[in-house]
Amino acid sequence: MGDIIKISGPAVIAKGMTGCRMYDIVRVGREGLIGEIIRLDMDTAFIQVYEDTSGLFVGEPVESTGLPLTVELGPGLLSSIFDGIQRPLGLIREKSGDFIARGISVHALPRDKKWTFIPDVLPKARVHSGDVLGTVQETESFIHKILVPPGTEGSIKNIRAGSFTVEEPIGELESGQRLYLMHTWPVRSPRPYQQKRDPDELFVTGQRIFDTLFPVAMGGTAAIPGPFGSGKTVVQQTLAKFGNAKIIIYVGCGERGNEMTEVLTDFPELVDPNSGRPLMERTVLVANTSNMPVAAREASIYTGITIAEYFRDQGLSVALMADSTSRWAEALREISSRLEEMPGEEGYPTYLSSKLSAFYERAGRVVCLSQEDRIGSVTVIGAVSPPGGDFSEPVTQATLRIVGTFWALDAGLANRRHFPAINWGRSYSLYSQQLEPWYGREVASDFIDLRKRAMALLQEEASLQEVVQLVGPDALQDNERLIIEAGKMLREDLLQQNAFSPIDGYCPMAKQDGILRAILQFYQLAGDSLRANRFTIDEIINTPEIEQISRLKEVERERFPAYIQQFLANMPQAFVKEG
Ligand SMILES: Nc1ncnc2c1ncn2[C@@H]1O[C@H](COP(=O)(O)OP(=O)(O)OP(=O)(O)O)[C@@H](O)[C@H]1O
Ligand SMILES: [Mg+2]
Repeated sequence: MGDIIKISGPAVIAKGMTGCRMYDIVRVGREGLIGEIIRLDMDTAFIQVYEDTSGLFVGEPVESTGLPLTVELGPGLLSSIFDGIQRPLGLIREKSGDFIARGISVHALPRDKKWTFIPDVLPKARVHSGDVLGTVQETESFIHKILVPPGTEGSIKNIRAGSFTVEEPIGELESGQRLYLMHTWPVRSPRPYQQKRDPDELFVTGQRIFDTLFPVAMGGTAAIPGPFGSGKTVVQQTLAKFGNAKIIIYVGCGERGNEMTEVLTDFPELVDPNSGRPLMERTVLVANTSNMPVAAREASIYTGITIAEYFRDQGLSVALMADSTSRWAEALREISSRLEEMPGEEGYPTYLSSKLSAFYERAGRVVCLSQEDRIGSVTVIGAVSPPGGDFSEPVTQATLRIVGTFWALDAGLANRRHFPAINWGRSYSLYSQQLEPWYGREVASDFIDLRKRAMALLQEEASLQEVVQLVGPDALQDNERLIIEAGKMLREDLLQQNAFSPIDGYCPMAKQDGILRAILQFYQLAGDSLRANRFTIDEIINTPEIEQISRLKEVERERFPAYIQQFLANMPQAFVKEG
């Protein structure tokens, strides 16, 4: 037990804290505000407080709980909306009204709800960390696996089927240790697994610019930096809706007051395109509104990723979206400056990039703990909002060095209503090569080749556009005009995709391949006929195929395979001169 000697916004310094450990949770002041020790210097503790500190006095007591910040993991997580330290928003509102009162303690998982548990193991069975004890049907479409908590092993003494709350024991080990539907885990410690796997499967998003050009692997990491209003949130929500992850963890760090409110109203309305059910049934939302203390925002990404790892450990693919990590970094900066730490670039603490990389490193495709070879993954997609859209600022730069895929949003494209406004010249993916066998197997044997040709064409077009800017279009040769035309087709018919279109919102891989193939075949045929002087460039630009290709994206998914086959087969006839 110690005493407060200094208070500065969310940061509190207390003396007399002998025996405390880093990251211990403390109760601050007479009201018992929740805080966490983030630095220790002899018996002086530097504490970030997750609740509003106004009204706190120097001299008030600080008491350590001796425990780190943990989250509760078990049935009842799905469809929940939590704050940064896993307090259900609905419950704290109920208890305290819109202005979150202080010192409130609420449970993350409901205590009164009974779940029907069906055991998978028998008495006498020997179980290890991560083994499946049994299951709970959590929602209509989701079966929750109840796991032996990491670090636990032994022989089952008894285990019962029946209806249990998360606090009632479902069984017991020979050692006397009780088993529950729920266990807790410290958020700042990554959950263990057996082994990391190579990221060699695509995280399929149904978005052409991502899947075809700048893929992110299952268990990989991607960042979406973009200026104000360029489409970060729309991309994150589109990926939540259409990405092929089973479970979505959405961490919203809103800065503008209304932005989080939008998420809180928008998200529950999203419909899962596969099941037609609310997307929330397989989502956990962690939400920080601007009236919440910054320290809770700092904790929120750890809360989010720990929940993500827990579902991964059940053998599921999980996608975690963080919108936006800049708001998280700003929280870090504020607390660091309140504690008068030595500032680094632009006032961010010098440990910004190590903290960021420790977060992104928790992504991955892994063989889970357990005696069976279960595979799970956490794919992390973080939005970054650089002030003024300047990518040279510290958070964007630090993120860029860590992530595998970089989707650069571009204000210019957004202004021209080219959506998703991803700049193909500045974006990249480090997974492309490792995913080549996947594309060859799952899409088409020559898909990688098509993709490379498309990238090269886009580059050629971009440099020709520069020439046009300087000297006008008349300076171009016929073959160069054809490159410009094909580049335009790639941009408009392949890369542009309206996230809100019922047909084109999601584009399966086979359709992405079809559209790309059509454009490149057109370019090939047109080039041949131009070189053989069968057609002039003006004739080519007026062929009806161009218009037909632009409408391919609106062909329904079911009709597409037959349609594209016919279309590709007929195309050569368009380049045969009659008479
Ligand atoms: N893929 C898309 N398809 C269609 N429209 C889009 C798409 N992406 C963005 N938009 C349009 O751009 C608007 C702004 O997008 P969004 O809110 O995602 O930007 P943001 O980068 O998150 O902004 P902020 O910096 O304010 O958080 C959307 O309301 C929508 O009209
Ligand atoms: Mg946004």
